[in-house]
Amino acid sequence: MKVRTAVIPAAGLGTRFLPVTKLVPKELLPILDKPMLQYVVEEAAEAGIERVIVVTSRGKESIAAYFQAMPDLEERLADSGATALAAKVRAAAEIAQVSFVIQEQPLGLGHAVLTAEEAVAGEPFVVILPDDIIAHSPGVVAQMLVVHENTGGGVVAVEPMPWERVHNYGVVDATPVDDRVHQIHGLVEKPSRREAPSNLTIVGRYILPPEIFDDLRRTPPGTNGEIQLTDALVLLLEHHELYAYEFLGTRYDGGTPLGLLRASLEFGLAREDTRQEVLALLKTLQPE
Ligand code: UTP
Repeated sequence: MKVRTAVIPAAGLGTRFLPVTKLVPKELLPILDKPMLQYVVEEAAEAGIERVIVVTSRGKESIAAYFQAMPDLEERLADSGATALAAKVRAAAEIAQVSFVIQEQPLGLGHAVLTAEEAVAGEPFVVILPDDIIAHSPGVVAQMLVVHENTGGGVVAVEPMPWERVHNYGVVDATPVDDRVHQIHGLVEKPSRREAPSNLTIVGRYILPPEIFDDLRRTPPGTNGEIQLTDALVLLLEHHELYAYEFLGTRYDGGTPLGLLRASLEFGLAREDTRQEVLALLKTLQPE
């Protein structure tokens, strides 16, 4: 069955970005002039995804507002000759069909995905974490859909990590089956270096069958009381094939202020309209 739907969990507390996340959702923090959330919605749309379901929470109403058209602002910009800006304002509302579901309490990533069950309506779907920003064309979702079509299984994006940092991530136990593709036999969340089955760490992109919802329901809360998606994937493995895919692209950790700063600088260097100014800025910051 064609993958038509993306679920984007955006209901977390964003504690690593406090105090700004007291009021501004982490997912709306920008890389240059666009919120992280828009980058991932664009990545989904580019891959042919038709429906995007964003999981939000009470107090994060600005996320839904962001995807609404703002005809007054567009008109004002167009009247003053700022047509390119008007087009940018309009773009966010036109990327894809975006709908919203509310996660009443931040009970974990797995729980956030479960909240979208009804909206997903029994189809395979992709999960995209908006604070894992990955620069590459074609985007990672498009790359993963090819693996899904070839294998027929679920797909988890992975990135080889230096061994000394593996303990911070979910890690897969997998054997290579194709270029960049590994069949998964097991998954562990934050293993010690000694216990880590590989250095392939899980990144925020998943293609999942709808059966994952039953697995999420029978996943007990972890140590911090949250329902972890990785734990549900372990249950899914009992009855479904899962593949790890080493994506092409550079990942930025938009979940931390420094990760977002790095993304902003590198995107600034990559974009033609900002490259020269960012280079000049970096030069002024270099010690003599
Ligand atoms: P994180 O693990 O980065 O958690 O979530 P967080 O709450 O956003 O940030 P910290 O750790 O407190 O700094 C990854 C993604 O999953 C969503 C988040 O919004 C983020 O996009 N999420 C997380 C939910 O939607 N619900 C949850 O209960 C937890």
